[in-house]
Amino acid sequence: TWTPDAFVDKTVAELKAKIGDEKVILGLSGGVDSSVAAVLLHKAIGKNLHCIFVNNGLLRKNEFTDVLKQYEGMGLNVKGVDASARFLGDLAGESDPETKRKTIGRVFIEVFDDESHLVENAKWLAQGTIYPDVIESVSATGGPSQTIKSHHNVGGLPDFMKLKVVEPLKMLFKDEVRRVGASLGIDKALLGRHPFPGPGLAIRILGDITPEKVAILQEVDAIFIDGLKKWGLYDKVWQAGAMLLPVNSVGVMGDERTYEKCVALRAVESTDGMTADWVNLPYEFLQKTSNDIINKVPGVNRVVYDISSKPPATIEWE
Ligand code: XMP
Repeated sequence: TWTPDAFVDKTVAELKAKIGDEKVILGLSGGVDSSVAAVLLHKAIGKNLHCIFVNNGLLRKNEFTDVLKQYEGMGLNVKGVDASARFLGDLAGESDPETKRKTIGRVFIEVFDDESHLVENAKWLAQGTIYPDVIESVSATGGPSQTIKSHHNVGGLPDFMKLKVVEPLKMLFKDEVRRVGASLGIDKALLGRHPFPGPGLAIRILGDITPEKVAILQEVDAIFIDGLKKWGLYDKVWQAGAMLLPVNSVGVMGDERTYEKCVALRAVESTDGMTADWVNLPYEFLQKTSNDIINKVPGVNRVVYDISSKPPATIEWE
């Protein structure tokens, strides 16, 4: 029978044999899969694993610095690359969801390629691909692209894509990845993190993206997510987040009428993201969260809760 401990022992031995003393590059995302893949490889080859964690400027509030610190604390050889300005610059004025995704994918590849050139004589590219990603990429469902390779565009392969590929989690399902992570001693909070899309807050800001909108959404999202944790609801929800809507609505503050932004909160239950139900969060929680958001985040005067399930709605709004 399959056990996480046995998987770790066997995989570490295989990775040592396969990689020897060659250098490996791995892109960390802050998510469960890439983190578990990194710790597994680190156990096998130590400092020859070179991790790269890119800030695309579309992560959650404080996520880049917090997660980077956490990775360093785990002993990983990790370089944080803050490319926010480059991503936001290239996204400026763009409202089309698919173009936003493509731009982010392209800039990521450019940044990652630049960084991988700085690791001299690297031979391998490691990825946290898991079994459902493998199936998805062959089933042509048009599902989200989770791996670096799937972003690639046919003309002129970047150098890091010519490296040999190692994918130690390729045969595992998500729950198995979490169990392997626990067996490796990875922090429970990291292993229990909600899924977060690669394009990040870009697809939760409907319409064009500006640094101001990102800052507003980061504040709103942080209040919502921290609230879910405080109320013991975070682990009962599969994924949660906030959307910044491209509409202003009238409100009132003191004697004045305001005309400000509206945010939608979304929390869903799911097992694989393919179907999802909205979560019946307690009214008291929604009331407190809405008050906090409107009182603490300048520029937002209205909060709505998304009560649509997938299908026919999707989890993200873009
Ligand atoms: P939807 O919105 O299609 O989302 O119901 C299903 C799951 O996929 C995530 N998602 C993405 N992940 N790149 C990603 O890496 C993307 O472009 C993307 N779009 C959606 C979404 O957050 C949910 O977990």
